Amino acid sequence: MDKFVIEGGRRLSGKLSVSGAKNGSLALMPASLLAPGFYHLYNTPNLNDIWTMSRLISSMGVNCDFEGSTLTIDSREITSFEAPYEHVKKMRASFYVLGPLVSRFGKARVSLPGGCAWGPRPVDLHLKGLEKLGAEINIEGGYVNAQAKKLIGANFHFDISSVGATGNVLMAATLAKGTTLLTNAAIEPEITALEEMLVKMGAKINGVGTTTLEIEGVDELFPVDETTIPDRIEAATYLIAAAMTKGEITLENIIPAHLPVVFSKLGETGCQLQVYKDSVYLKMDDLPKPVDLVTSVYPGIPTDIQAQWTAYMMLADGVSKVTDTIYHDRFMHIPELLRLGADINVIENAAIIQGGKKLTGAVVMSSDLRASASLILAALVAEGESEILRIYHIDRGYENIEDKLNAIGASVKRVKTDLI
Ligand code: EPZ
Repeated sequence: MDKFVIEGGRRLSGKLSVSGAKNGSLALMPASLLAPGFYHLYNTPNLNDIWTMSRLISSMGVNCDFEGSTLTIDSREITSFEAPYEHVKKMRASFYVLGPLVSRFGKARVSLPGGCAWGPRPVDLHLKGLEKLGAEINIEGGYVNAQAKKLIGANFHFDISSVGATGNVLMAATLAKGTTLLTNAAIEPEITALEEMLVKMGAKINGVGTTTLEIEGVDELFPVDETTIPDRIEAATYLIAAAMTKGEITLENIIPAHLPVVFSKLGETGCQLQVYKDSVYLKMDDLPKPVDLVTSVYPGIPTDIQAQWTAYMMLADGVSKVTDTIYHDRFMHIPELLRLGADINVIENAAIIQGGKKLTGAVVMSSDLRASASLILAALVAEGESEILRIYHIDRGYENIEDKLNAIGASVKRVKTDLI
């Protein structure tokens, strides 16, 4: 096991390049099951989750070759239609293979993903959508068994806006017979990018990037090359890190249009920002003003930055409230932040942060990907040394995080430990 040893109190200053989006690549990779052939996915981040997805589709007969940031997928031979529990339990996005498999091959056996560190993660919308397209679904032994002679286009409304369910049902609809109308579809940039890739593959999709998608099924699709969009959550995390240390940062390789609400909220706290075509400069000279945050679906504030924002508001001179409307119990980071000296109360799906408390280094434990990020941010400003355990969580979603932070003035050491 590895841990991070972080020396607090160092000002961040410098330039970083943002990696490809974890959730972007994880949406594009299963699309390779829809059409046999070679795919080159450029700007793919070197992350544990990408390796987990690669191992999963490789277990189905797909060949994956990862050179630098180019992932080459050869999906000419699919020999298995099963996503075993050993893969799916590690990463919920494994469930995205269900739609492509049942749509192209008429069968799939995919383990239910179960919950995650912060609570239940249902897949009812994935299953209802596929059933509406004519898939026969039964659940046995923790697995979803799906069968269909041929999926038939239908109308389906997502009662809750769901990134994963939109991706799964959308991919299935591209090869269904007839027209599918999806309403209240997710419009997160990672899903829009998937729609754009599917259109390049020959899919007929009207309404790309909107909540209403009309998909005319086709008989076959074709392999393509695609470039993963930059990681907007990674970008937001580093902007918050720089702001917390009263530092300055230039982030390159971003799509500013994916981050307007993050820029606006950071500006409300007192940050100076200059936004350019594919980069942003942030400078922060003072402690942040307390600014409340309420997460929502895109283009609102992503739930994936609420833990990092909570860490930031620990420095504010006053009380702020962070509310998560997407995941009501995504607060596993709070007890660990309290160990650093924070004063935070969780009431239902909101964290009430009494800022301005003295933060001192401690040993803290990661519980999930974004909780780990918030602990690292807090350790950057806590007095003295902190240790972050179980950093395999952070390795799922932040490429070379210690190298990137150390390059702009942090002191983060990755150390082997027997502590788990
Ligand atoms: C994606 O998860 C992301 N993961 C998550 O990022 C992100 O937090 C989430 O979207 C919300 O933006 C990937 O893209 C791999 P949802 P997903 O389906 O698709 C409910 C990270 O840190 N729901 O959009 O699983 C669900 O409980 C990860 O990078 C149902 O009720 O999320 C939640 O309240 C964590 N039934 C809401 O919808 C369903 O069938 C949104 O979930 C599906 C979802």
